[in-house]
Amino acid sequence: MLKDFVTYDGFAIPAVGLGTWQSKIGDCYNAVRWALDAGYRHIDTAYDYGNESDVGRAIRDSRIPREQIFVTTKLPSHVKDEVGAKAHLAQSLHNLGTEYVDLYLIHAPWPWSDVGKDCTEGNIAAWKTMLEMQSRGLIRCCGVSNFLPSDIRPLLAATGTMPAVNQIRYFVGNTQRETTSFCEENGIVVEAYSPLATGNILDNRVLAEVAERYNATVAQLCIAYCLNKGTLPLPKSVNKERIEQNLAVDFVISPEDIAYLDGLEGIESHR
Ligand code: A2P
Repeated sequence: MLKDFVTYDGFAIPAVGLGTWQSKIGDCYNAVRWALDAGYRHIDTAYDYGNESDVGRAIRDSRIPREQIFVTTKLPSHVKDEVGAKAHLAQSLHNLGTEYVDLYLIHAPWPWSDVGKDCTEGNIAAWKTMLEMQSRGLIRCCGVSNFLPSDIRPLLAATGTMPAVNQIRYFVGNTQRETTSFCEENGIVVEAYSPLATGNILDNRVLAEVAERYNATVAQLCIAYCLNKGTLPLPKSVNKERIEQNLAVDFVISPEDIAYLDGLEGIESHR
């Protein structure tokens, strides 16, 4: 039985979440239904994915009580002001057809159209607004995504409140050590998006050899690696069998194999 993660402010997050980035309308609905049937209780979406309405409909149609499912969505990366943050949260709640989200993340520290731009003031404005919305009960946990330590520190300095979660691109060979160490030291849960490198490392022969030792697929090895490293994986799939497979990851990887996998930095480009 996989153990929940717990944020520093006491919220339990189910250990494997269904990722929905690039899940198209219709496919996304089916994926969420299959995931909930398989036992997932954690669904990750974003305003920018354009599929919040499918996620919400699938949750309602499952008839599983809303409070038993952990739902994450995200403030679009270009929205860096109070009015915009309030409007987008309201729109996401409407799309999802829910009264609150379990986790709301600033999608990125800068707009996708201007990666690396210094948006410190805007991030602080968005962060303050999210904390206010949390106090009103519209958000249970507040967090960030794609943030470096240098993006997180100003939020703490301005408000005294640390993000509960940082969701980053994380997989075997791409473990963002500076960011993960910072999060660990500060009690921030690290969520791993693209834990399969969006599929790019699944045909890797080296990983296949390690996976074989655990009677696992490469995908299962990659997901179990995240869990063994203390990060929370969000594998995306719209395929029923794969969705089921991706939850069967409750195995311990030996310290020797973890050390070996840790040494595969950059593996994504070795194809
Ligand atoms: P599909 O949705 O058709 O199953 P990531 O989570 O790193 O973003 O990776 C997602 C990619 O990996 C998608 O292309 C997805 O395809 C594929 N995928 C997800 N789970 C598995 C699995 N168990 N085996 C093989 N491919 C998978």
